[in-house]
Amino acid sequence: MGTYAAQTQQEFEGWDEFYQIPNDEKLEFFMRDGRIFDVIYAQQFDRGFLDYLCNLADKIRLLAKVKVGQHKLRHLLPHKKAMLYFIQPSTRTFLSFQNACYSLGMSVSEIRSTTTSSEVKGESPEDTIRTFASYVDLIISRHSQAGFAEKTAWVLNQSHRPIPVLNGGSGPDQHPTQALLDIYTLEREFTRLGGLDGKTIAMVGDLKRGRTVRSLSYLMKNYRDVTLYFVSPEVFRMQDDIKMFLKKHGITYHETDDFEGILPLADAIYMTRIQNEYSEDPTSEEETYPAFHFKATHLDKIQAHCALLHPLPRRYEIEVCVDKDPRAAYWRQERCGMWIRSALIAYIFKVDQDILYEFS
Ligand code: NCD
Repeated sequence: MGTYAAQTQQEFEGWDEFYQIPNDEKLEFFMRDGRIFDVIYAQQFDRGFLDYLCNLADKIRLLAKVKVGQHKLRHLLPHKKAMLYFIQPSTRTFLSFQNACYSLGMSVSEIRSTTTSSEVKGESPEDTIRTFASYVDLIISRHSQAGFAEKTAWVLNQSHRPIPVLNGGSGPDQHPTQALLDIYTLEREFTRLGGLDGKTIAMVGDLKRGRTVRSLSYLMKNYRDVTLYFVSPEVFRMQDDIKMFLKKHGITYHETDDFEGILPLADAIYMTRIQNEYSEDPTSEEETYPAFHFKATHLDKIQAHCALLHPLPRRYEIEVCVDKDPRAAYWRQERCGMWIRSALIAYIFKVDQDILYEFS
């Protein structure tokens, strides 16, 4: 398909120039009427937005606990349709978005492989996405290519049917809605400790190709006095673009390969898996880096309030018996994804105030 597509697909004029513009200089392009319209990268979110969305997610959670609340939610967006275009593997992001849509009353269509779409006939992904816009009101995409969601938003925003695009993961680049759910999880885990401000967060694993830790790092500019520890083997160090961003915003970070050394220091430990799907030959990356795995014996070394996160899927990064410890927050984190994505969709379709009204 790679070679065939190269023969059949055309260039989009102006895209390369647009893509080169630094993200923080083109935020307006993804906004409408002073509100976020497309969700493409984490730099789009400011503190006001993050706090607002976390509060909205809390309210949705409460409503969803009871039948009458679920009924109210389901009657918010029955006239809206979403397309889940997930051509890179996904379990949580797909299911949490799908269930977020259902809980707001939306209907959902899906494509999960280019082998079942007209891309197999040589149609470009951008034309495929444009086709979705003829039938639905929202596109949520996951793609192995960095910048893919941005390009589709760029294409649609110049078309006759601009509809919102939500980035559910764009290659090793960004995963902004994962960052939203990570923030929501951290804020909830630290409810009795004054929230995320002032906390020390360790990010562990493949920081080089992990889009979750990249997007989450961008969001740290919104919180006061946060300290980051980037804990990884030398080959998986956090990339310079993120480090430059942190420096520019005065966020303290340290790089280390001493996993055991950071355990007592961290208020939260964010574990990640090795992203070997981005390797030329995924099976060639056999090393599992056990010095960066969280084992049951580490539970005695972390603080009593420390929150242990993982975007999942897990391989060997966290020993399964750790799941029983109350500080293991990753299964709660998974559910937070559904609530914050529901909040985001409600915000995008401007029914957020209807939800908050229930609590006024
Ligand atoms: C992450 C992803 O896809 O980037 N998973 C997820 O969305 N929950 C992390 C990963 O795959 O390692």
